[in-house]
Amino acid sequence: MLKQRTLSIIKPDAIRKNIIGKIINRFEEAGLCIIAAKFKKLSRSEAESFYYIHKDRAFFKELIDFMVSGPSFIQVLEGDDAVQKNRNIMGNTDPKKADIGTIRADFADSIDANAVHGSDSIDNAVKEISFFFSETEIYAQEHK
Ligand code: CMP
Repeated sequence: MLKQRTLSIIKPDAIRKNIIGKIINRFEEAGLCIIAAKFKKLSRSEAESFYYIHKDRAFFKELIDFMVSGPSFIQVLEGDDAVQKNRNIMGNTDPKKADIGTIRADFADSIDANAVHGSDSIDNAVKEISFFFSETEIYAQEHK
């Protein structure tokens, strides 16, 4: 299995609930390593730029309002099949449709306040990681 990197955002709702550790524990239990991390309260222009792909969707304004409502905890995760593995751990975007035992089923309240974001493809992971982190901010040492 190829080692990959993916971007994870623990969103403002999860920060307000004080459950960063519970969420990170799920990544680590699944064999994903956190190789970069930062707290960041996104500006409106940063959030709009990050989610530009959704700019024409009806939910765009609510998404941006929510993402600027408080700080996020942004990480780079590394591990075998990291992109898909993280998506499996997160569960469906809509917590009502997410499988029990996934982060969104267990911790999220709504499709907007859905606790976490994760890159949806290897190409987008590369783009999203470079949006938030320079290579010097990423812990590049090999993990077992
Ligand atoms: P995220 O993985 O961060 O990517 C885009 C976000 O838009 C998504 O999680 C949801 O929080 C939010 N969103 C709100 N409504 C929808 C919708 N109908 N479909 C997809 N994403 C939505």
